[in-house]
Amino acid sequence: MSMDTVNSIVITELRKSYDRVAGSETTYAVDGVSFDVPKGQFVTLLGPSGCGKTTTLRCVAGLERATGGRIEMGGQVVFDVPQKRFVRPEDRPIAMVPQSYGIWPHMTVLDNAAFPMRHGRNRRRGQDIRKRAMDMLDQVGLAAMADRWATQLSGGQQQRLAFARALLGDPEVLLLDEPLSNLDAKLRAKLRQELRSFQEQFGVTALYVTHDQAEALALSDTVVVMNQGHVEQIDRPEQLYDHPRSAFVADFIGNANLIPVQDVSARREGGVIAKTGVGTVLCLRSSVEEDHRTGSGGFVCVRPENVEVRTTSQQETPMLEDDEFIGTVETSEFLGDRLELVVRAADIPITISARAGLGCRPGEDVVVRFDPTTTSYLAS
Ligand SMILES: Nc1ncnc2c1ncn2[C@@H]1O[C@H](COP(=O)(O)OP(=O)(O)O)[C@@H](O)[C@H]1O
Ligand SMILES: [Mg+2]
Repeated sequence: MSMDTVNSIVITELRKSYDRVAGSETTYAVDGVSFDVPKGQFVTLLGPSGCGKTTTLRCVAGLERATGGRIEMGGQVVFDVPQKRFVRPEDRPIAMVPQSYGIWPHMTVLDNAAFPMRHGRNRRRGQDIRKRAMDMLDQVGLAAMADRWATQLSGGQQQRLAFARALLGDPEVLLLDEPLSNLDAKLRAKLRQELRSFQEQFGVTALYVTHDQAEALALSDTVVVMNQGHVEQIDRPEQLYDHPRSAFVADFIGNANLIPVQDVSARREGGVIAKTGVGTVLCLRSSVEEDHRTGSGGFVCVRPENVEVRTTSQQETPMLEDDEFIGTVETSEFLGDRLELVVRAADIPITISARAGLGCRPGEDVVVRFDPTTTSYLAS
């Protein structure tokens, strides 16, 4: 941790196993996960279903007791195995926004909002409660509905209420587990923008869980990519997309062509030379340290929008540069703003996002180029 970063949460080597079936090996739903949540940031746990996101979040909340590791929150240790320390959920400085919002149907909007001030960790008294709740409802655009039953709110309004209520508990960190997954796509996109702008406006720290990579990229300052109980990569969204450190990350986030590599060598001027079925490919991005750029295996990774393609005249054989090769168009889909091509070269399908005006049809040969500056070598 650097001197100028204040972390709201520090998680070190967190592990959680569930009771195992007799005779089988212990399996860990969370298997040595470490990451920080800096104060004021929006951090997302992203990964496929079953990779351990919810379990991690529930351990942070104290709803689940981890098997090993340590959790610090606001500078205090709230969980530590050797120290035998376990702070109860209600004594941790968090607020959880559940998937179903957890709005109380038998209460008014105002009473829902005021709930954490009447029953929570930072209990208050008297008139102050009503005033603070009304101020908050005003800020999330629900003041006019304060006296309605909570069930009279739309889905989007319920989400705002859940957010307002969580903030009124004065949490150090807001924990959100797939809060948008029950909504249709259009509303989801709208509410995720709203969620992000509220988070910035209130300067609250958020730890968010989703399996939706677009949501994670759009919302987060930092994304923790998880796979099978461990962390694959922790980075800012742009960095994750442009510099994935594993084939798993490249494939899970956005679309990626992953071309198997036969063998690799380091290029003296920098970069990696990878021999593949389609030809020799120069990669100026790599997940592998300089000294280890020899051997076999791994993948060349290139995003569809970074593959260059040009048509050829059917009569003559095209002149090829070193980094170009010939492929045959297998499918060509016009998508309005672009052409989505699958080109097969040496039996390897390559997905290409080309400009809409590029005239080419299935069966035609095209020249394909991987730009070394946007092409990565990923070890397997
Ligand atoms: N209460 C439980 N008992 C046993 N296994 C569980 C329990 N909860 C989760 N698991 C297992 O732990 C793994 C991680 O689950 P979870 O954290 O819910 O994943 P995610 O939220 O990423 O979809 C899964 O294999 C799941 O089956
Ligand atoms: Mg989950």
